[in-house]
Amino acid sequence: MAWKVKPSATTQIPTRKEPWLTEKMKDHYVSEIIPRYERSMGALMPILHDVQHRYNYVPYQAMIEIATLLEIHPGDVLDTVSFYEEYTTEPVGKHVIGICQSIACEVCGHQALLDHVREKLDLEPHETSDDGRFTLLAMECLGACDGAPCALLNGDRHDGLTIEKLDELIDGLP
Ligand code: FES
Repeated sequence: MAWKVKPSATTQIPTRKEPWLTEKMKDHYVSEIIPRYERSMGALMPILHDVQHRYNYVPYQAMIEIATLLEIHPGDVLDTVSFYEEYTTEPVGKHVIGICQSIACEVCGHQALLDHVREKLDLEPHETSDDGRFTLLAMECLGACDGAPCALLNGDRHDGLTIEKLDELIDGLP
């Protein structure tokens, strides 16, 4: 087996002059979010949620800005972003369809659902359509195994899915 090495130390991240965390956002985090937690690290996930939902992703520059605000290491922010499927480092589409692929959903037919959506939207998991309308994700357990197979559509969980139900949900999206 060959190790794949990525040049993290010399990788350039895209930056822009204008900060991703506006003064208004920072004021909100400092006055409303950070005081809820004993340590500033506790505020990391709520702040990441906010950034993800505002921009449809968490830009690398924003991770550095968050680290500075919370006085934590940027690597800790990146670790959190890369661990949770909720956060993305690339913009997601207007509608995010996440099909659970963990064991209970796998046993209950997740593959048929995933294949159907792949074909219907002409997307592979973790791709976004060229028009920015859809992102397809294959996700880990959504915590609702008794309702398998499940999927998240724009953050709302739907259980006991069939191809017909999923089609109905997707076709009903604005
Ligand atoms: S395996 Fe799909 S919700 Fe748990």
